[in-house]
Amino acid sequence: RTERTVALIKPDAYGTGKKDAIIEKITAAGFKIVKGAEVQFSLAQAQEFYKEHQGKPFFDELVNWMSGTSIYAMVLEKEGAIDAWRELAGPTNSVKARDIAPQSIRALYGTDGSQNAVHGSDSPASAEREIKVVFGDEVSPFPEPL
Ligand code: CMP
Repeated sequence: RTERTVALIKPDAYGTGKKDAIIEKITAAGFKIVKGAEVQFSLAQAQEFYKEHQGKPFFDELVNWMSGTSIYAMVLEKEGAIDAWRELAGPTNSVKARDIAPQSIRALYGTDGSQNAVHGSDSPASAEREIKVVFGDEVSPFPEPL
C-alpha cells in the first residue's frame, strides 16, 4: 500500500547543514517528497506533536529543543513508507545505531539518544495525526489516486 509519513530533520542535523545529504538518501531510497519546508515549531506545537511522550523524563527537554530553532519537515510517499522511512532512519539512539546500522541516517548524522537527526512517524495513525500537526490542511495524509 502506498503510504505517506512525516520526516523531520531535527536541529542537530538541520542546524549543521546535513539537510542535502539526508534528502539525497531519501530520494535514493525511492521516496517521493510530497512536501518539504523549513518549519519553526511553537512550544505548544512541539508538545502536541510529541504528546504520546508527555510525562516521560525527556519530554520537556525534547519539546524545548524541537521548538528552539527551525527544523526541516517533509511528507514522504512510497509503498510502505512508514516502515521504510523508520528503517532508513535507523535505531533511535544514534550512538547505538553506529554499531547496529552504520549506514542509517541516525548513525551517520545524529548525535546521541535524544538528539538523533531525524523523526519518523511510527504508525499510519501517527502519520495522519503528525501531517495535520505540522502541515494542517496544506497536505493530505493520503496518497493522491493515480
Ligand atoms: P523519536 O523516536 O523520533 O521521538 C521521540 C524522541 O524523544 C526521540 O526520537 C528522541 O529524539 C527523544 N528522546 C530523548 N530521550 C529519549 C529516550 N530516553 N528514549 C527515547 N527517546 C528519547
